[in-house]
Amino acid sequence: MATEHAEGLTEIFDTVAALAPEIREALPGRRVKSDETNPSGETQLAADSYADELFLDRLGDLDGVVEYASEERTKAVHTDDDGQNYDAGDLSVAIDPLDGSSNLQSNNTMGTIVAVYDAPLPASGADLVGAAYVLFGPITTMITADDEGVTEYLVDDGTRQVIREDVTLPEEPSVYGFGGRVPDWPADFADYADEVEADDTMKLRYGGAMIGDINQVLTYGGVFSYPALQSAPNGKLRLQFEGNPIGFIIESAGGRSSDGSGSILDVEPTDLHQRVPVHVGNEGLVERLEAALD
Ligand code: AHG
Ligand code: MN
Ligand code: MN
Repeated sequence: MATEHAEGLTEIFDTVAALAPEIREALPGRRVKSDETNPSGETQLAADSYADELFLDRLGDLDGVVEYASEERTKAVHTDDDGQNYDAGDLSVAIDPLDGSSNLQSNNTMGTIVAVYDAPLPASGADLVGAAYVLFGPITTMITADDEGVTEYLVDDGTRQVIREDVTLPEEPSVYGFGGRVPDWPADFADYADEVEADDTMKLRYGGAMIGDINQVLTYGGVFSYPALQSAPNGKLRLQFEGNPIGFIIESAGGRSSDGSGSILDVEPTDLHQRVPVHVGNEGLVERLEAALD
């Protein structure tokens, strides 16, 4: 990471870790659907908007953060006194406050995804200076990625305790998870899925929260895709809040990301809520996918 951003990034990651237990404690009473939809047209749960407000409040207070955007609000919020001027050292935060929040109803895994850019939003993956996610599983863990690599922490008490440094994808992959309805997959992606399924070293792991599935790929090696669909040519996941930070984390861990033809981090940002096909995992599996979709 450029040293000018080291302090700002640490403050952002520490703040996200500090909020993890607070968010966890707030979940039991906020599993109900609200009457509101988010900018992607999805029904919000009380927990989605609660977490969004909390992150805006606490991250917006940090000196280095000049812009805050989330999957749950239409426009980015300017959080400093300097208007819309973007100065050296300024950072923008783009958040998926709760990824996989529909899993709350069935009490399954979900998480928070954080992207930190040194450019105004919407920004390119090339402008990322760091990314992280919190995983609300049986225990609360956090993965961070910056130019020093990928680190896994325990954050049960709101502080970051290192579990694993220099996290890299295992060389022998063993899990795959593909989103979207199977009949809605384009034929070339369905062919790729057949190829992966025919490999007897690979087993299906799909949980309906990208963060849970991504953490399995980081732990066991493998591939996660939410592909382009016949009914949705850009898939479901959003570039600023989901595709870019997850692509950055997996690439920092020695893997590859792809929108089907090249790195997700090279996709041109055109809209805060734009969607992108997401394919991430071990290099060989993502290269085979790009060949299949070519
Ligand atoms: P979010 O809860 O932030 O809207 O994200 C849900 C995403 C992602 O986490 C997951 O991989 C995918 O949607 C699940 O979609 P399906 O329900 O279509 O499998
Ligand atoms: Mn999400
Ligand atoms: Mn979400």
